Amino acid sequence: MTESAVRHPLDPLDLGEIAAIRALLDRDPRCTNAMRVTTLELREPAKPDVLAHRPGDAVVRAGRLVLLNSESGEVIEVIADLTAGRIASWDVVTADGQPPIILDEFFKIATIVKSDPAWRAAVARRGITEADYDLVQVDPFSAGNFGYPEEQGRRLVRAVAYWRGGPKDNGYAHPIEGVVAVVDLIGGRILTLVDDPVAIPIPRKPRNYHREALPPPRTDLKKLHITQPDGPSFSVDGWNVTWQGWTFRVGFTPREGLVLHNLSIAGRSVIYRASISEMVVPYADPTTNHYWKNAFDAGEYGLGKLANQLELGCDCLGLIHYFDIPAADDFGQPTLMKNAVCMHEEDYGVLWKHNEFRTDTFETRRSRRLVISFFATVGNYDYGFYWYLYLDGTIQLEAKLTGIIQTAAVAPGEAYRWGGMVDENLGGPTHQHFFNARLHMMVDGEANTVTEHEFLPRPWGADNPHGNVFDTTSRVLSRERDAAREADGRTGRYWKISNTNVVNSVGKAPAYKLAVTASPLLLAQVGSAVHRRAGFATKHVWVTAYDPAERFAAGEYPNQHAGGAGLPAYIADNANIENTDIVVWHSFGHTHVCKPEDFPIMPVEYAGFMLKPNGFFAGNIAMDVPADTDPASAQHGASCCCD
Ligand code: NI
Repeated sequence: MTESAVRHPLDPLDLGEIAAIRALLDRDPRCTNAMRVTTLELREPAKPDVLAHRPGDAVVRAGRLVLLNSESGEVIEVIADLTAGRIASWDVVTADGQPPIILDEFFKIATIVKSDPAWRAAVARRGITEADYDLVQVDPFSAGNFGYPEEQGRRLVRAVAYWRGGPKDNGYAHPIEGVVAVVDLIGGRILTLVDDPVAIPIPRKPRNYHREALPPPRTDLKKLHITQPDGPSFSVDGWNVTWQGWTFRVGFTPREGLVLHNLSIAGRSVIYRASISEMVVPYADPTTNHYWKNAFDAGEYGLGKLANQLELGCDCLGLIHYFDIPAADDFGQPTLMKNAVCMHEEDYGVLWKHNEFRTDTFETRRSRRLVISFFATVGNYDYGFYWYLYLDGTIQLEAKLTGIIQTAAVAPGEAYRWGGMVDENLGGPTHQHFFNARLHMMVDGEANTVTEHEFLPRPWGADNPHGNVFDTTSRVLSRERDAAREADGRTGRYWKISNTNVVNSVGKAPAYKLAVTASPLLLAQVGSAVHRRAGFATKHVWVTAYDPAERFAAGEYPNQHAGGAGLPAYIADNANIENTDIVVWHSFGHTHVCKPEDFPIMPVEYAGFMLKPNGFFAGNIAMDVPADTDPASAQHGASCCCD
């Protein structure tokens, strides 16, 4: 057994443990060959047990699985107790929704679609011949739930297709418009084929991005090397990381990808657990190929499952530490995701500076941040998730959006009505991207309180005789339903997560401030399918009393869920959230109106937020950063140290 390698209750399951779980399934008569493993993850121990853990203590280990019977469609939640060496529970799931779509199904869908006579007839009307079939790309999308009676109770995807002129051709330049196959994954057949009467021609212009298709590389971009001759400033012990006063544990789940556990600075806790709990990308085109597209990329596919393995070179510069992630395939067999998480340090410009001519004091320090990141490719899009820790105590999450947009064929001579034209006869549907960060806060201890603040002008009066005064309001969010909040840039609305049981250097409660960026809310109508299903995207901030069962912003099984799950349900009981164990959930994103520059691959778009110490420290904690100037830096033609 490899259990000896496990030293902490939050260590991800290792390959030996995953193999041991597979062996437990093999010995269980209920687990037939039809069983697929849609989820296999560490069952995280209860928070009190994690907090009570001391180095050297025995750890209790268990796996949490979701199984799908690929013949019957039955879904089973399983707890595999590794310490006792047995299947501890086996529960058939009767709740609404489906487990995520798995790779094993992806491969079957193309065969089902391409062999269907009705689909062949539909694409023939658009110029696809039998000779094209091999190269046609079939994209299976999560089906959503639109209340269609024939779809209820079935495990489905909606499949759209793209012509490709060669093995490396970019299919997204050639959408086959007006043909959607609703595929029954258990029945192994097309349930419904939608074939628009008007057949829009397939755009045939190639728009490729593989190396041979790119223009000759520019030659005037000179080398830029990042060197760290003394090594990195972080240290890694198993899954535990320390850097510049910060400590945390790296975790990883099939659904969320990277998780930060037990994040603390200067020996003081800040966050118990942080992750991206869900995403949704709703499209704003009402036509056949698009109205139903609203992928919940975490819950319907799995950001962790689709994480890039950066064996062929990292996306980062400098000295990189890679974490290999033990994972299970669709059959529960162990597999190692090489280099799935990257960690490195980055220079980040000026940290602090002052030039005081009176005292002839010139001091400047450079900012540096620790970057912990991974990239997930979910179909056409690529999402990077970058956690940054800074020398001044700031925490940042930055989502990077890149990859290929969804596309629509546009009839010659017409303009695309539901988004932007990106090339001849090719449109990009307008859409939104929403992310939800789940932040189980632990600012200086377990009992935290969230307050909301705004800047408001003070009326003229005895206490504002010159009219220059404005106020900062403060309001405690004391109940869950009071705490579903929208940002407001006009009043600078922000939130503080504080610990009122502790007193800081100026007699207040130490806090971290949630600093949000300008971010949209869901624009789909109340009553629409996506509005029901993506309730988390209708508010920017939610606060809930910690409940271990409340893990994901759109609920446990968002795939094909009818709606109402997740945050709107979590706050229904309106629990107390003042001075208690709380989770802050932040929804943020980007509204994307497509343009020619997005094609064939869009430059990175950013979305994210920061958590900044606010009365957490007694002063600027980065005053002791050395005035280290880089002797390798030089002004063109003369030596100089630059800010
Ligand atoms: Ni986009």
